[in-house]
Amino acid sequence: MSALDINNLQNSFQEAFNLSGSPGAVSTSPTQSFMNSLPQRLSAAKQQKVLKPFSTGDIKILLLENVNETAISIFKQQGYQVEFHKSSLPEEELIEKIKDVHAIGVRSKTKLTKKVLEHAKNLVCIGCFCIGTNQVDLDFAANKGIAVFNSPFSNSRSVAELLIAQVITLARQVGDRSIELHTGTWNKVSARCWEVRGKTLGIIGYGHIGSQVSVLAEAMGMHVIYYDIVTVMALGTSKQVPTLDELLNKADFVTLHVPETPETKNMLSAPQFAAMKDGAYVINLSRGTVVDIPSLIQAMKVNKIAGAAIDVYPNEPAKNGAGSFNDDLNKWTSELVSLPNIILTPHIGGSTEEAQSAIGIEVGNALTKYINEGNSVGSVNFPEVSLRSLDLDQENTVRVLYIHQNVPGVLKTVNNILSNHNIEKQFSDSNGDIAYLMADISQVNQSDIKNIYDELNQTSSKISIRLLY
Ligand SMILES: NC(=O)c1ccc[n+]([C@@H]2O[C@H](COP(=O)([O-])OP(=O)(O)OC[C@H]3O[C@@H](n4cnc5c(N)ncnc54)[C@H](O)[C@@H]3O)[C@@H](O)[C@H]2O)c1
Repeated sequence: MSALDINNLQNSFQEAFNLSGSPGAVSTSPTQSFMNSLPQRLSAAKQQKVLKPFSTGDIKILLLENVNETAISIFKQQGYQVEFHKSSLPEEELIEKIKDVHAIGVRSKTKLTKKVLEHAKNLVCIGCFCIGTNQVDLDFAANKGIAVFNSPFSNSRSVAELLIAQVITLARQVGDRSIELHTGTWNKVSARCWEVRGKTLGIIGYGHIGSQVSVLAEAMGMHVIYYDIVTVMALGTSKQVPTLDELLNKADFVTLHVPETPETKNMLSAPQFAAMKDGAYVINLSRGTVVDIPSLIQAMKVNKIAGAAIDVYPNEPAKNGAGSFNDDLNKWTSELVSLPNIILTPHIGGSTEEAQSAIGIEVGNALTKYINEGNSVGSVNFPEVSLRSLDLDQENTVRVLYIHQNVPGVLKTVNNILSNHNIEKQFSDSNGDIAYLMADISQVNQSDIKNIYDELNQTSSKISIRLLY
């Protein structure tokens, strides 16, 4: 921790001392579980103590890339200072701004590299208001004691709804009819156009999205079977099948909802297409590496596969614009676009207003909980640690947040430092080289706080420390 941090901390102690006993320091905190819910509830419950790292008005949040307004309102309700930008910032400006802030919120365009993060003196957490986190150097952030949060599941419903649209669109060849009519061709046909009622949908990966798909598809009268590497409880009357081959043999529509892993790479390739029913349809809204596209092209050319919808690709353009989806990006692009009954969308499965709003709430609440309470549950680069809230009557209690290198003997050293006080509860976990200890210690006089901080600060394995009270 730099001298600047220590100065900040000392100022903060001063402010906290002034706050002590004031109505603002107590009484309006929600229960732990309510902290997961809507921000309006933050002031509803009356039993638990609000922890303050210092006056929340001192917390600075930098929000870039038009982060949803639901997040802005969460931070403003906390009293944080919020600086909002519609776009990302040039690197130089980002470096300048990141020096001061306690939290930064980005989407996919802002690259939080080692070079940028090195300049962050007060940063405690990063919010990726999106699914992916590869725009952040996660290891470097963890080694600086910066927790990174994202929102992996807020858009599940949006993806599931698009899948349903695609099932019907493929079954009725709507894409082709629309393209034809746009170019003046009237082509009223019913041959090889089908209702989806009574057909079998095969879902590969029955997680957040796959299970939503299952419910929606059954509502349309489809039979649903699914394959997953873990045993998952079926929703409705859907049925888990034991092998991928069984699913491929039985399904009229095959849809993929698996993560990108070494096991899912080219999960559908020539042998899998051969195992499918003649005239089956394939839909991929998961990750671009999961379907072997050249094999799909061959299977469609010989009419084994009657149609496909693809939303994700091995390589995707970095930004919107004409001409970027071409053979330089993926060498098979022109062959793919020339196939009949193929719906191609630019990775928009999760792109809805509702999903953006839900992402704002989820990441906004995660950052607030981490800043105010130290709760790191949901962090992608950090041990996930949480303690239940302090009660209102626990006045001389301090919450110690100690991020450290994961090496032997640390807990012994830390508990020695804390041992003059009553350790009411503590929890520690590690993730690779990084470990995180949360402890609530009672019977702490205000004059002890700085001593505890100084002693912890001298421990050799310390990465960062915060004391909340
Ligand atoms: N197109 C988009 O815009 C968009 C939006 C959101 C998510 N996604 C992608 O959709 C996919 C699914 O997301 P989710 O939120 O449902 O994920 P999830 O983690 O909730 O579910 C994934 C499921 O796949 C299963 N699985 C993992 N490996 C498997 C394997 N080898 N074989 C069979 N099953 C396997 C898991 O057990 C789990 O049940 C992810 O790849 C995600 O990145 C795409």
